[in-house]
Amino acid sequence: MDANRRIERTLDAAVAHAEAPGAPPRLAEAIRYAVFPGGHRIRPRLCLSVARACGDDDPAASDAAAAAIELLHCASLVHDDLPCFDDAPLRRGQPSVHAAFGEPLAVLTGDALIVSAFETLARGAARSPGRLAALVGLVARAVGSPNGIVAGQAWESEPHVALAEYQQAKTGALFAAATVTGAAAAGAPALPWRLLGECLGEAYQVADDLRDVACRQEEVGKPVGRDATLGRPNAAALLGMGGALARLKRLAREAVEVIPACPGADALRAEIEAQTRLFLPASLVRELA
Ligand code: IPE
Ligand code: IPE
Ligand code: MG
Ligand code: MG
Repeated sequence: MDANRRIERTLDAAVAHAEAPGAPPRLAEAIRYAVFPGGHRIRPRLCLSVARACGDDDPAASDAAAAAIELLHCASLVHDDLPCFDDAPLRRGQPSVHAAFGEPLAVLTGDALIVSAFETLARGAARSPGRLAALVGLVARAVGSPNGIVAGQAWESEPHVALAEYQQAKTGALFAAATVTGAAAAGAPALPWRLLGECLGEAYQVADDLRDVACRQEEVGKPVGRDATLGRPNAAALLGMGGALARLKRLAREAVEVIPACPGADALRAEIEAQTRLFLPASLVRELA
């Protein structure tokens, strides 16, 4: 089965679990709305690509890891869009969860998705208790404090933050979780894979910052110009458009160079090169060249 189908199927099973009889209907609806239709699904694909490069000998565990990471990503978007954070009424081209369901249900949807991520891991990796324990630890690190998404969002409430630190915590940590859990789910040593995820995550956030400055809302399906309005550190604003593009290219090159030795390294390298070329719309790259 191809990676996209594996991801959608595992996500659907996780969401269906939250929709079981007895669930509050509007919460169940909001949870499905937050996950489907998806966006880029780049993190779970990365997780499965690394698992495949490492042999993918327990597909149920790698599917669970990939879905858990996407569920956490969806949770982070629901919370990020709330009026108390980025106050964004649009996400993936449709009203954000709080705009469609109200703030209380949006808070609870994010909470439920976080719990669902760990439940998904517990169910999918139950046959390998050693791997399950490692996966829980690796995923938790990516979403909590001091290194994960919670910390990244919290830096927005501090008077000073360095750009790289902010981007590593709010975005890099979950990409790093995608690569390390892909390896761990396949029984390979996880830590050598962290740097790849960190490079890709930072590159992805730099690309997002460029899109925030240079794209139109209809192109990205979410409000643009938000970082300036909200006073958020933005790579394009801090380094200039050319400087941000150079940083993105350097990080993409570095990502390919730090892929650890493994049976599927060549195929993974080609895949990552192809993916990073898509981080920005071709028209924007031409404009900046
Ligand atoms: C948006 O991530 C938030 C960032 C960290 C840049 P994505 O661009 O992956 O969002 P979706 O899942 O495709 O909507
Ligand atoms: C994304 O930051 C990081 C999250 C933890 C959600 P942004 O605020 O830049 O992401 P968008 O632009 O809303 O997707
Ligand atoms: Mg935002
Ligand atoms: Mg942004």
